[in-house]
Amino acid sequence: MHLFAQKRNPLALLMSILTLTMVLAACGSSAGNTSTGSGTASTTAGGKGCQHVGVLLPESSTSPRWETKDAPLLLAALKTAMPSATIDELNAQGSAPTQQSQAEQELTKGACILVVAAHDSQAASAIVEKAKASNVPVIAYDRLIQDKNLNYYVSFDNVKVGELQGQFIVDHAKKGQNLVMINGSQTDNNAILFRQGALNKLQPLIDNKTLNLVYTTFTPDWVPATAQTEMEAALTKAANKVDIAYSANDDMANTIIAALKAQHLNGKVLVTGQDATVAGIQNILTGDQSMTVYKAITKEATATAQLAAAISNGTDTASMINGQTKTSDGAQIPSVLETPVVVDKTNIVSTVIADGYDTKADICKGLPAGLGGIC
Ligand code: BGC
Repeated sequence: MHLFAQKRNPLALLMSILTLTMVLAACGSSAGNTSTGSGTASTTAGGKGCQHVGVLLPESSTSPRWETKDAPLLLAALKTAMPSATIDELNAQGSAPTQQSQAEQELTKGACILVVAAHDSQAASAIVEKAKASNVPVIAYDRLIQDKNLNYYVSFDNVKVGELQGQFIVDHAKKGQNLVMINGSQTDNNAILFRQGALNKLQPLIDNKTLNLVYTTFTPDWVPATAQTEMEAALTKAANKVDIAYSANDDMANTIIAALKAQHLNGKVLVTGQDATVAGIQNILTGDQSMTVYKAITKEATATAQLAAAISNGTDTASMINGQTKTSDGAQIPSVLETPVVVDKTNIVSTVIADGYDTKADICKGLPAGLGGIC
């Protein structure tokens, strides 16, 4: 089409430009960003009558959960709960400014409910404020957003996650052992809560010198490669005398195990984790990791979708709420908090496999037949 080379009727030219712009806009959505549904965009008071939900996820490369579990489960649950709504999913790929502009983009497109898993729990306050200015409710998904105007929070009891990790260590620790703590990202409120929960159990043992905390750190953006470097530094500092490595999640545990392997210490050090990833469960079966925390993301996604549907239908949300969560600026946010479960080599079948969260086929891929009585 020689759009600008020929003399054309100005109206036809305008139509061509508009068509081209729409085609380019449609092509512009990047990988990992999904849109479903035919509902028309509408901005409604406080989300009532809303038929356009914007789902903003934080990252994809540092943890597989967001794109492999949360995205499909949220889209499916929202589709069921709000069959005629448009659902957009965008991933900030680890950047708070990107998440902010994705939120603005969604609001401009007419999103009237936002579901936000914040990349940065403080920075995402700007998203809540922007949404509030358009009377658009925000549901913080998995990670709290530190803003008094946040409408809802759906997650797991994240202090409990840390307590399960900490209690597992307490149950297996021996007097005089050396402990390393590799926490998550300091900009993720969850990482603070996991650490707090773990220390609720561990601090008394540190104080009475049962355990020596030889190294502790946060891991910016939860990057597994950084966790590996941190573990290497911890091993150097403690002259390889490490008995327990607290890892906040399975993705970091995997690279922490790589650091241990390099010193022939894998299987000899108690390593914790979280998320019940396939790699995490495999590491438990091989004996390199001791435990993980299973969070049934289906429940989290379903609760979020039901909350969004209730907001849209204008029905009471009170019956769904099972707690209040305090933000750093002093508000109490109505919350739905699901319960996390410890998984170790004794209950893999009755938890993650029974729920279909991880399949036996995926877990056993590449592992010796008969391993753990599962493969
Ligand atoms: C989530 C964890 C996840 C971590 C890194 C946390 O906010 O609750 O499940 O492992 O982020 O993505």
